[in-house]
Formats: sequence, structure tokens, C-alpha cells
Amino acid sequence: MSGTVLTVDNLVAEARSSDGPVRLVDGVSFAVRAGRTLGLVGESGSGKSVTCLSVLGLPPRGVRIAGGRILLGGHDLRGKTPAELNTLRGREIGMILQDPMTSLNPLLTIGRQITEMFRYRDGIKSREEREARAIDLLRRVRIPAPESRLNSYPHQFSGGMRQRVAIAMNLACDPRLLIADEPTTALDITVRLQILDLLRDVQAERGTAIVLVTHDLHLVRRYCDHVAVMYAGRIVEQGPVEKIFARPRHPYTKGLLGAVPRLHGVQHRLTVIPGQPPLPGSIAEGCRFAPRCPRAQADCLSAYPATRELDEHRSVACWHLEPNEIAVDSLLATATL
Ligand SMILES: Nc1ncnc2c1ncn2[C@@H]1O[C@H](COP(=O)(O)OP(=O)(O)OP(=O)(O)O)[C@@H](O)[C@H]1O
Ligand code: SF4
Ligand SMILES: [Mg+2]
Repeated sequence: MSGTVLTVDNLVAEARSSDGPVRLVDGVSFAVRAGRTLGLVGESGSGKSVTCLSVLGLPPRGVRIAGGRILLGGHDLRGKTPAELNTLRGREIGMILQDPMTSLNPLLTIGRQITEMFRYRDGIKSREEREARAIDLLRRVRIPAPESRLNSYPHQFSGGMRQRVAIAMNLACDPRLLIADEPTTALDITVRLQILDLLRDVQAERGTAIVLVTHDLHLVRRYCDHVAVMYAGRIVEQGPVEKIFARPRHPYTKGLLGAVPRLHGVQHRLTVIPGQPPLPGSIAEGCRFAPRCPRAQADCLSAYPATRELDEHRSVACWHLEPNEIAVDSLLATATL
């Protein structure tokens, strides 16, 4: 369970525009090991989805991967043909997106979708066997009475059930890597935890490496080993969850952690970071967070801070780090859901 499954090295993704290419993801690097979960966090528009879709070889329309390497078990996915990538997505890389309907066909019953997958992908000829496998799969994701659900259509399932089915279809492939981009955002908190518990169980059993995009830092605390914080197309800080949550060294990370509402006891006012991130295409020289940063100094405006290693597996890009001795431990460190 210990090897590195995914390595993203200096990934650059650009959108076409009339003024030339615009960088949406600008030199992103991270790695995920077998059996581990990396949380990818950051405000809306920071490039989390473009990063995930690029890793999947499915950059959004008008966006191209302009640089970097995406290594799955040592093989660079950028060298693969679309057909090869398609095969990999069916076998080695799973994806779970916010809206499970994007991976389910609304016109086909759940049973049909799963059994067809067994027919075409695995070449299982016997209908009984395909159905038995489908029931087994639905049982694994804890769909009650799965025998009676095979003939249901996706709209007859609740949002949480649909997401379970999408997970089931991913599990059938037993992927080494699972990209989950806000898989539970549309669901209520109880169902959200059930789905993520399920993923964690599968991970423990199969050693799956998971990239989990979420806006909920409590979920990062609970389910992720590492966290990478994105801001305006770059990772500004990354490392083990406990270390970063206890002592964020980048002012943006500290701001994000401070913006988390308390779960227990008195509800504090939400401190949001004032201001807005820059839009891609209007990014100035220097640190992208400078206009919003309480620690900004004149030199922050002249050059982007190089990423430096703080200790093993922990890095940060800032000229004037938050002091190490101040433990923020912003409620999150102790918060349990
Ligand atoms: N197809 C596209 N063409 C041009 N720009 C795009 C395209 N898709 C996304 N973008 C831009 O790329 C930037 C990053 O978008 P992305 O969807 O990756 O953000 P995100 O971090 O996933 O945000 P959210 O938390 O809202 O999901 C945004 O500024 C977005 O407007
Ligand atoms: S480099 Fe400067 S502006 Fe950027 S986060 Fe660090 S202190 Fe703030
Ligand atoms: Mg997104």
C-alpha cells in the first residue's frame, strides 16, 4: 500500500482566449500514495477542477494541458492517446463528480448500466452472472434490497443513493486512483459522511489512492492524510493534515482555517478573508495573494515566492511565513463531527 500512485509535476493548463493563452493551473505539483487521500482545497475558481480534469485527461472545452507531467505508477499520461486514456479511466482511474447524474445514464435502469459494463468491459456472457455481480456491487455500497433496485432508473434514487451507485460503478473497476471532485457537496451532512466512510472503507480494503476536492475543511480533517491548498491556479501550501491544521504557515491557509465555522459550542462569526482572488488573465507579478494578505510587504509585489520545503512532505510558497511558534489549532484540530 505504500508506493506513489499519482505524481503531478509542474502541471500547466491553459485556456484559449482572444488575448492569447490564459493560465488556469500554473505549475501545480503533488503526489498521492496508495491507500492515502490528498485533500485539494481553495476558494471557488482556484483551479481544483481543472487540475482534476487534466489528471483524468479530460480538460474542459477550450482548455489544454500546456506543460508538466502526470505520472500514474511511473507512466506519463500525457503521452497516451485518447483511446488509451479512455481505457485507463475505465480500469485504473476512477472519477466521482459532484453530480452523479453526469456518470449515470438517466434513460437506462441502474441494473442495465451496471450489467452492460460487465458485458462490454469484462466480456461476461451470462446474464445471470452479470446480474449477480451487479447485486453484489450494489450491496457493497450498501444499497438496501439491491435485488429489487436493479430495475429502477436513476431518478428513482435519492441523491445519496445515486452517488453510491456511481461509486459502485467505479469500484467495479477497482481503480488504483480515484479522483473525487466535491462528491458529496450536494448531499446532507449525514449522507455525506456515509459516502466518505464508504470510500474510506474501500480504500482500506483496496489501497486506493484518492484525491478529494472539497470546500469543507472538516472533511479534510477527517478523511485526508495530506492537504494541498490552491490559490489562483497554484498550490500555496501542502503537507500532512495535522501539521498544516495545527500550524498553517501560509497566510492564505491561516485565513481559510479561520473561516471555518465552529461546530460545537458557541457559533462564532465567520471570518472570511476580505477581497476576491484574481481572475485568470488578470494576474499581476508577485504573490497572487498580496492584495488580500495581512502580512504583505513591498517585496511581495515584485516576485512570486518560490516554493520551499519546510520539512518532509511539507512545502509553502510565501516570502513572509506565519510564525511557526503560534499554534493556530483553529478548533478544527479538535473538532469531531
Ligand atoms: N472551459 C474553460 N474555459 C475557460 N476558463 C475556464 C474553463 N473552465 C474553468 N475555467 C476557469 O478556470 C479557473 C479555475 O476553474 P475551476 O473550475 O478549476 O475552479 P475550482 O477551484 O474547481 O472552483 P469551484 O470550487 O467553484 O469548483 C476559473 O477561473 C474558471 O473560470
Ligand atoms: S508572499 Fe507576501 S503577500 Fe504573499 S502570502 Fe506571503 S506575505 Fe502574503
Ligand atoms: Mg470545481
